[in-house]
Amino acid sequence: MNALADMPTSATTATASDDSAPLIEVRDLRKRFGEVEVLRGIDLQIARSEVVCIIGPSGSGKSTLLRCLAALETYDQGDVRIEGELLGYTERNGHRVRASQGEINRVRRNVGMVFQQFNLWPHMSALGNVMEALLRVRHLSRDEARRRAHAMLETVGLAHKADAYPAKLSGGQQQRVAIARALAMEPHIMLFDEPTSALDPELVGEVLQVMKQLARDGMTMAVVTHEMGFAAQVADKVAFIDQGRIAVAGKPREVFHDAGQPRLRQFLQNYFDRNAFWTQGADEAGPA
Ligand SMILES: Nc1ncnc2c1ncn2[C@@H]1O[C@H](COP(=O)(O)OP(=O)(O)OP(=O)(O)O)[C@@H](O)[C@H]1O
Ligand SMILES: [Mg+2]
Repeated sequence: MNALADMPTSATTATASDDSAPLIEVRDLRKRFGEVEVLRGIDLQIARSEVVCIIGPSGSGKSTLLRCLAALETYDQGDVRIEGELLGYTERNGHRVRASQGEINRVRRNVGMVFQQFNLWPHMSALGNVMEALLRVRHLSRDEARRRAHAMLETVGLAHKADAYPAKLSGGQQQRVAIARALAMEPHIMLFDEPTSALDPELVGEVLQVMKQLARDGMTMAVVTHEMGFAAQVADKVAFIDQGRIAVAGKPREVFHDAGQPRLRQFLQNYFDRNAFWTQGADEAGPA
């Protein structure tokens, strides 16, 4: 199918307020780095309030996919639609052309992202880090930005650390500040790329707890994770990516219990072998 053939005549023809449209719709997404095709035809829909966990081996394209959804990476073919609007491209005289940076920023305005590395400003307090984009991007007054930033730090359980600098915060606390920073922009969807992978094991729980609460509050989320327990508990849908394709997708129970697909079986087996001490969990969530 020619993915470019049935483009809308304008990137703004779809209504952003159409609540029935999937929040994110990815169709035949392809992306190459030089000679290597890293995403090889991804189809994915994320409905409002849905939590999708993305699992898969290293190098399979998980981060590249998320980065395409946040317009941090361009894509070569296919569609990425955010609330019905095409991201990154627009149609001019029957051709698809790169959208202006202003247009891209507008379409991805409601997409928040949290990375493995927290990327906090070292010279700003936790509060300052959360306020920064509110001042510079949203142009809120200092008072309004401070009020909202405080509320967000409270959401992640860190109101008492508002004045602390990143160097004085644990990794888990820094990641929670990064989550507060993203939430302060009032996103409609949050993308998480292995948010707990850089953390000491005993700090993972506090970050997952915040993410679970977000999910309970109805936040739409796409989470690349190796935390299978989190995926099994929280995800509405689990997508297993292998070599740039979604090889298996379904409810956690289907994906974890009925892992018939050989690559998925192998992936999960490796995971559960590494976590063999966790016998109870492996019995519950491991492949049948
Ligand atoms: N900027 C880039 N330039 C060239 N190749 C890249 C670039 N970014 C990623 N790649 C390649 O694309 C492939 C997919 O990378 P990606 O980071 O999306 O994988 P991943 O599934 O997130 O892996 P991991 O689990 O290790 O984070 C890899 O082969 C990687 O080397
Ligand atoms: Mg990655």
